[in-house]
Amino acid sequence: DGELCLSRSLVNSSDKIIRKAGSSVFQHSVEGWKINSSLVLEIRKNILRFLDAERDVSVVKSSFKPGDVIHYVLDRRRTLNISQDLHSLLPEVSPMKNRRFKTCAVVGNSGILLDSECGKEIDSHNFVIRCNLAPVVEFAADVGTKSDFITMNPSVVQRAFGGFRNESDREKFVHRLSMLNDSVLWIPAFMVKGGEKHVEWVNALILKNKLKVRTAYPSLRLIHAVRGYWLTNKVPIKRPSTGLLMYTLATRFCDEIHLYGFWPFPKDLNGKAVKYHYYDDLKYRYFSNASPHRMPLEFKTLNVLHNRGALKLTTGKCI
Ligand code: CTP
Repeated sequence: DGELCLSRSLVNSSDKIIRKAGSSVFQHSVEGWKINSSLVLEIRKNILRFLDAERDVSVVKSSFKPGDVIHYVLDRRRTLNISQDLHSLLPEVSPMKNRRFKTCAVVGNSGILLDSECGKEIDSHNFVIRCNLAPVVEFAADVGTKSDFITMNPSVVQRAFGGFRNESDREKFVHRLSMLNDSVLWIPAFMVKGGEKHVEWVNALILKNKLKVRTAYPSLRLIHAVRGYWLTNKVPIKRPSTGLLMYTLATRFCDEIHLYGFWPFPKDLNGKAVKYHYYDDLKYRYFSNASPHRMPLEFKTLNVLHNRGALKLTTGKCI
Protein backbone atom coordinates (compact mmCIF):
# COMPACT_ATOMS: atom_id res chain seq x y z
CA ASP A 1 0.00 0.00 0.00
CA GLY A 2 1.57 3.25 -1.17
CA GLU A 3 0.24 5.28 1.71
CA LEU A 4 1.77 3.01 4.33
CA CYS A 5 4.95 2.86 2.36
CA LEU A 6 5.26 6.64 2.55
CA SER A 7 4.44 6.74 6.25
CA ARG A 8 6.98 4.06 7.07
CA SER A 9 9.67 5.87 5.22
CA LEU A 10 8.84 9.23 6.79
CA VAL A 11 9.11 7.74 10.24
CA ASN A 12 12.11 5.51 9.70
CA SER A 13 14.21 7.97 7.77
CA SER A 14 17.81 8.00 8.80
CA ASP A 15 18.38 11.70 8.21
CA LYS A 16 21.29 13.15 9.99
CA ILE A 17 20.37 15.71 12.57
CA ILE A 18 23.06 18.23 13.15
CA ARG A 19 22.71 20.15 16.36
CA LYS A 20 24.19 23.51 15.82
CA ALA A 21 23.66 26.88 17.45
CA GLY A 22 20.85 25.49 19.56
CA SER A 23 18.63 24.40 16.70
CA SER A 24 18.28 21.10 14.87
CA VAL A 25 18.83 21.38 11.19
CA PHE A 26 18.81 18.73 8.57
CA GLN A 27 21.47 17.90 6.13
CA HIS A 28 20.71 17.40 2.49
CA SER A 29 22.84 17.44 -0.56
CA VAL A 30 21.88 18.79 -3.96
CA GLU A 31 24.82 17.13 -5.67
CA GLY A 32 23.78 13.84 -7.16
CA TRP A 33 20.10 14.54 -6.43
CA LYS A 34 17.88 12.64 -8.82
CA ILE A 35 14.13 12.69 -9.30
CA ASN A 36 12.35 9.50 -8.24
CA SER A 37 9.49 9.56 -10.73
CA SER A 38 7.68 6.53 -9.37
CA LEU A 39 7.64 8.06 -5.88
CA VAL A 40 6.35 11.33 -7.38
CA LEU A 41 3.47 9.43 -8.98
CA GLU A 42 2.74 7.52 -5.80
CA ILE A 43 2.60 10.73 -3.74
CA ARG A 44 0.32 12.36 -6.31
CA LYS A 45 -2.01 9.38 -6.18
CA ASN A 46 -2.07 9.34 -2.37
CA ILE A 47 -2.76 13.06 -2.11
CA LEU A 48 -5.60 12.63 -4.60
CA ARG A 49 -7.35 10.45 -2.05
CA PHE A 50 -7.63 13.50 0.20
CA LEU A 51 -8.04 16.38 -2.23
CA ASP A 52 -8.04 17.19 -5.88
CA ALA A 53 -5.91 20.30 -6.25
CA GLU A 54 -7.46 21.04 -9.62
CA ARG A 55 -10.81 21.46 -7.92
CA ASP A 56 -9.87 22.48 -4.35
CA VAL A 57 -7.49 25.22 -5.38
CA SER A 58 -10.54 27.49 -5.76
CA VAL A 59 -14.25 27.65 -5.31
CA VAL A 60 -16.04 28.58 -8.53
CA LYS A 61 -18.82 31.01 -9.33
CA SER A 62 -21.50 28.37 -9.42
CA SER A 63 -20.70 27.30 -5.82
CA PHE A 64 -22.31 30.44 -4.40
CA LYS A 65 -24.62 33.31 -5.15
CA PRO A 66 -24.19 36.83 -3.80
CA GLY A 67 -25.64 37.11 -0.30
CA ASP A 68 -24.85 33.49 0.65
CA VAL A 69 -23.58 33.09 4.19
CA ILE A 70 -20.72 30.68 4.85
CA HIS A 71 -18.93 29.55 8.00
CA TYR A 72 -15.22 30.24 8.35
CA VAL A 73 -13.20 27.07 7.89
CA LEU A 74 -11.16 27.43 11.07
CA ASP A 75 -13.73 29.32 13.10
CA ARG A 76 -17.05 27.62 12.45
CA ARG A 77 -19.06 29.88 14.77
CA ARG A 78 -18.38 32.94 12.68
CA THR A 79 -19.78 33.67 9.27
CA LEU A 80 -19.01 35.61 6.12
CA ASN A 81 -21.35 37.03 3.50
CA ILE A 82 -20.49 36.41 -0.12
CA SER A 83 -20.51 39.96 -1.46
CA GLN A 84 -21.33 40.99 -5.01
CA ASP A 85 -17.65 41.89 -5.64
CA LEU A 86 -16.35 38.63 -4.24
CA HIS A 87 -18.82 36.68 -6.29
CA SER A 88 -17.90 38.50 -9.47
CA LEU A 89 -14.23 37.60 -8.93
CA LEU A 90 -14.81 33.88 -8.38
CA PRO A 91 -13.50 31.98 -11.40
CA GLU A 92 -15.96 30.22 -13.72
CA VAL A 93 -13.71 27.16 -13.77
CA SER A 94 -10.63 26.20 -11.81
CA PRO A 95 -7.69 28.36 -12.90
CA MET A 96 -5.54 25.19 -12.73
CA LYS A 97 -7.79 23.03 -14.86
CA ASN A 98 -5.75 20.86 -17.23
CA ARG A 99 -2.53 22.69 -16.42
CA ARG A 100 0.49 20.40 -16.27
CA PHE A 101 4.15 21.31 -16.01
CA LYS A 102 7.44 19.51 -16.25
CA THR A 103 9.18 21.53 -13.58
CA CYS A 104 7.81 23.91 -10.96
CA ALA A 105 9.35 26.14 -8.33
CA VAL A 106 7.67 26.72 -4.99
CA VAL A 107 9.33 29.74 -3.42
CA GLY A 108 9.08 30.20 0.35
CA ASN A 109 10.00 33.48 1.95
CA SER A 110 12.99 32.65 4.16
CA GLY A 111 15.97 35.01 4.35
CA ILE A 112 18.06 32.00 3.29
CA LEU A 113 17.37 33.24 -0.26
CA LEU A 114 19.50 36.35 0.25
CA ASP A 115 22.82 36.00 -1.62
CA SER A 116 21.64 32.67 -3.01
CA GLU A 117 21.80 33.89 -6.63
CA CYS A 118 18.92 31.54 -7.33
CA GLY A 119 16.92 34.07 -9.38
CA LYS A 120 17.81 32.69 -12.82
CA GLU A 121 17.28 29.09 -11.78
CA ILE A 122 13.90 29.86 -10.20
CA ASP A 123 12.77 31.72 -13.32
CA SER A 124 13.84 28.82 -15.53
CA HIS A 125 11.06 26.58 -14.18
CA ASN A 126 7.88 26.16 -16.22
CA PHE A 127 5.63 27.33 -13.39
CA VAL A 128 6.62 29.45 -10.40
CA ILE A 129 4.57 29.60 -7.21
CA ARG A 130 5.25 32.32 -4.62
CA CYS A 131 3.81 33.16 -1.23
CA ASN A 132 2.19 36.20 0.33
CA LEU A 133 2.80 38.68 -2.43
CA ALA A 134 6.49 38.76 -1.57
CA PRO A 135 8.37 41.51 -3.40
CA VAL A 136 10.63 40.33 -6.23
CA VAL A 137 12.01 43.21 -8.30
CA GLU A 138 14.50 44.47 -5.70
CA PHE A 139 15.63 40.89 -5.01
CA ALA A 140 15.53 39.53 -8.56
CA ALA A 141 19.10 38.14 -8.53
CA ASP A 142 18.29 35.93 -5.56
CA VAL A 143 14.59 35.15 -6.01
CA GLY A 144 13.79 35.76 -9.70
CA THR A 145 10.68 37.56 -10.92
CA LYS A 146 8.50 34.98 -12.68
CA SER A 147 5.29 34.50 -10.69
CA ASP A 148 2.62 32.30 -12.23
CA PHE A 149 0.77 31.70 -9.00
CA ILE A 150 1.01 33.84 -5.90
CA THR A 151 -0.73 33.57 -2.57
CA MET A 152 -1.95 36.45 -0.44
CA ASN A 153 -3.12 36.04 3.13
CA PRO A 154 -5.54 38.90 3.91
CA SER A 155 -3.09 40.03 6.65
CA VAL A 156 -0.64 41.10 3.93
CA VAL A 157 -2.74 44.23 3.38
CA GLN A 158 -1.89 45.35 6.90
CA ARG A 159 1.65 44.04 6.99
CA ALA A 160 2.99 45.20 3.66
CA PHE A 161 0.56 47.81 2.36
CA GLY A 162 -0.15 49.97 5.40
CA GLY A 163 -3.73 48.71 5.71
CA PHE A 164 -4.50 50.77 2.55
CA ARG A 165 -4.70 53.82 4.81
CA ASN A 166 -3.49 56.22 2.17
CA GLU A 167 -3.54 56.53 -1.59
CA SER A 168 0.14 55.63 -1.98
CA ASP A 169 -0.39 52.29 -0.19
CA ARG A 170 -3.23 51.50 -2.55
CA GLU A 171 -1.17 52.56 -5.57
CA LYS A 172 1.72 50.39 -4.46
CA PHE A 173 -0.65 47.44 -4.18
CA VAL A 174 -2.26 48.04 -7.57
CA HIS A 175 1.20 48.35 -9.11
CA ARG A 176 2.29 45.05 -7.52
CA LEU A 177 -0.80 43.28 -8.88
CA SER A 178 -0.48 44.81 -12.32
CA MET A 179 2.99 43.22 -12.58
CA LEU A 180 1.36 39.84 -12.19
CA ASN A 181 -0.57 40.16 -15.44
CA ASP A 182 -2.85 37.16 -15.70
CA SER A 183 -1.16 35.02 -13.05
CA VAL A 184 -3.25 33.35 -10.39
CA LEU A 185 -3.72 35.40 -7.19
CA TRP A 186 -4.75 32.96 -4.47
CA ILE A 187 -6.53 34.51 -1.51
CA PRO A 188 -7.49 32.31 1.46
CA ALA A 189 -10.54 34.40 2.26
CA PHE A 190 -12.59 31.81 4.14
CA MET A 191 -10.12 30.62 6.78
CA VAL A 192 -10.55 32.83 9.83
CA LYS A 193 -12.52 35.93 10.65
CA GLY A 194 -10.56 39.15 10.79
CA GLY A 195 -9.46 39.80 7.23
CA GLU A 196 -12.84 40.25 5.56
CA LYS A 197 -12.60 44.00 5.07
CA HIS A 198 -9.10 43.61 3.63
CA VAL A 199 -10.38 41.03 1.17
CA GLU A 200 -13.22 43.37 0.21
CA TRP A 201 -10.80 46.27 -0.38
CA VAL A 202 -8.54 44.04 -2.46
CA ASN A 203 -11.50 42.85 -4.53
CA ALA A 204 -12.71 46.41 -5.03
CA LEU A 205 -9.25 47.57 -6.19
CA ILE A 206 -8.96 44.68 -8.65
CA LEU A 207 -12.36 45.48 -10.13
CA LYS A 208 -11.91 49.26 -10.18
CA ASN A 209 -8.51 49.04 -11.87
CA LYS A 210 -9.61 46.24 -14.19
CA LEU A 211 -6.55 44.21 -13.20
CA LYS A 212 -5.97 41.06 -15.23
CA VAL A 213 -4.97 38.78 -12.32
CA ARG A 214 -6.94 35.58 -12.08
CA THR A 215 -8.32 35.46 -8.57
CA ALA A 216 -8.75 32.15 -6.76
CA TYR A 217 -10.19 31.45 -3.31
CA PRO A 218 -9.39 28.03 -1.82
CA SER A 219 -12.21 25.59 -1.26
CA LEU A 220 -13.69 25.23 2.20
CA ARG A 221 -12.29 21.74 2.52
CA LEU A 222 -8.74 22.29 1.29
CA ILE A 223 -6.92 22.96 4.54
CA HIS A 224 -8.52 20.04 6.39
CA ALA A 225 -7.82 17.71 3.48
CA VAL A 226 -4.16 18.75 3.30
CA ARG A 227 -3.79 18.34 7.04
CA GLY A 228 -5.49 14.95 6.80
CA TYR A 229 -3.00 13.77 4.20
CA TRP A 230 0.01 14.70 6.32
CA LEU A 231 -1.50 13.37 9.55
CA THR A 232 -2.26 10.06 7.85
CA ASN A 233 1.39 9.94 6.89
CA LYS A 234 2.35 10.44 10.52
CA VAL A 235 3.47 14.03 10.13
CA PRO A 236 1.70 15.76 13.05
CA ILE A 237 1.48 19.27 11.63
CA LYS A 238 -0.89 21.82 13.16
CA ARG A 239 -2.19 24.09 10.41
CA PRO A 240 -0.19 23.56 7.18
CA SER A 241 1.92 26.60 6.33
CA THR A 242 1.30 28.28 2.99
CA GLY A 243 4.55 26.77 1.72
CA LEU A 244 3.53 23.22 2.61
CA LEU A 245 0.06 23.84 1.15
CA MET A 246 1.65 24.96 -2.11
CA TYR A 247 3.89 21.90 -2.31
CA THR A 248 0.88 19.66 -1.65
CA LEU A 249 -1.15 21.36 -4.42
CA ALA A 250 1.78 21.37 -6.83
CA THR A 251 2.09 17.56 -6.69
CA ARG A 252 -1.03 17.47 -8.87
CA PHE A 253 0.35 19.69 -11.62
CA CYS A 254 4.11 19.31 -11.59
CA ASP A 255 6.36 16.37 -12.43
CA GLU A 256 9.36 17.90 -10.72
CA ILE A 257 8.99 20.25 -7.78
CA HIS A 258 11.88 22.44 -6.67
CA LEU A 259 11.62 24.28 -3.36
CA TYR A 260 13.53 27.46 -2.55
CA GLY A 261 13.29 29.79 0.44
CA PHE A 262 12.29 27.10 2.91
CA TRP A 263 14.46 27.48 6.01
CA PRO A 264 12.49 27.97 9.23
CA PHE A 265 15.53 28.38 11.42
CA PRO A 266 17.22 31.46 12.83
CA LYS A 267 20.73 30.43 11.72
CA ASP A 268 22.28 28.77 8.71
CA LEU A 269 24.55 25.72 8.83
CA ASN A 270 27.54 27.94 9.54
CA GLY A 271 25.81 29.62 12.46
CA LYS A 272 25.15 32.85 10.55
CA ALA A 273 21.87 34.65 11.34
CA VAL A 274 19.09 34.15 8.77
CA LYS A 275 16.17 36.58 8.49
CA TYR A 276 12.68 35.13 8.74
CA HIS A 277 11.69 36.86 5.51
CA TYR A 278 14.13 37.88 2.81
CA TYR A 279 12.31 41.18 2.38
CA ASP A 280 11.32 42.54 5.82
CA ASP A 281 12.31 42.48 9.49
CA LEU A 282 9.49 40.34 10.82
CA LYS A 283 10.59 38.16 13.73
CA TYR A 284 9.21 34.66 14.10
CA ARG A 285 9.39 32.16 16.90
CA TYR A 286 9.86 29.00 14.92
CA PHE A 287 9.44 26.62 17.83
CA SER A 288 6.72 28.52 19.72
CA ASN A 289 3.58 26.63 20.62
CA ALA A 290 1.64 29.82 19.98
CA SER A 291 2.49 29.62 16.28
CA PRO A 292 -0.27 28.08 14.14
CA HIS A 293 2.40 26.12 12.25
CA ARG A 294 5.09 23.57 12.86
CA MET A 295 7.50 24.76 10.22
CA PRO A 296 10.60 22.94 11.53
CA LEU A 297 8.65 19.67 11.42
CA GLU A 298 7.38 20.51 7.94
CA PHE A 299 10.95 21.22 6.88
CA LYS A 300 12.16 17.92 8.28
CA THR A 301 9.48 16.15 6.24
CA LEU A 302 10.35 18.02 3.05
CA ASN A 303 13.97 17.14 3.69
CA VAL A 304 13.13 13.43 3.89
CA LEU A 305 11.25 13.78 0.61
CA HIS A 306 14.27 15.53 -0.90
CA ASN A 307 16.56 12.69 0.12
CA ARG A 308 14.16 10.22 -1.48
CA GLY A 309 14.02 12.15 -4.76
CA ALA A 310 10.37 13.22 -4.45
CA LEU A 311 11.24 16.92 -4.56
CA LYS A 312 14.36 19.06 -4.62
CA LEU A 313 15.07 21.39 -1.75
CA THR A 314 17.64 24.13 -2.33
CA THR A 315 18.90 25.99 0.73
CA GLY A 316 22.33 26.97 -0.51
CA LYS A 317 23.67 28.95 -3.43
CA CYS A 318 22.55 28.24 -6.98
CA ILE A 319 25.56 28.28 -9.22
N1 CTP B 1 9.05 29.61 5.08
C1 CTP B 1 10.12 28.87 5.56
N2 CTP B 1 11.07 29.48 6.34
C2 CTP B 1 10.98 30.78 6.65
C3 CTP B 1 9.88 31.54 6.17
C4 CTP B 1 8.93 30.92 5.39
O1 CTP B 1 10.22 27.67 5.31
N3 CTP B 1 11.94 31.34 7.38
C5 CTP B 1 8.06 28.96 4.20
C6 CTP B 1 6.82 28.45 4.94
O2 CTP B 1 6.37 27.28 4.33
C7 CTP B 1 5.83 29.59 4.73
C8 CTP B 1 6.19 30.07 3.32
O3 CTP B 1 7.62 29.93 3.26
O4 CTP B 1 4.49 29.18 4.76
C9 CTP B 1 5.80 31.50 3.04
O5 CTP B 1 6.31 32.33 4.04
P1 CTP B 1 5.42 33.41 4.80
O6 CTP B 1 4.85 34.33 3.79
O7 CTP B 1 6.21 33.97 5.89
O8 CTP B 1 4.26 32.54 5.40
P2 CTP B 1 3.60 32.84 6.83
O9 CTP B 1 2.80 34.07 6.72
O10 CTP B 1 4.62 32.82 7.90
O11 CTP B 1 2.81 31.59 7.10
P3 CTP B 1 1.39 31.25 6.59
O12 CTP B 1 1.02 32.15 5.46
O13 CTP B 1 1.58 29.85 6.14
O14 CTP B 1 0.54 31.41 7.81
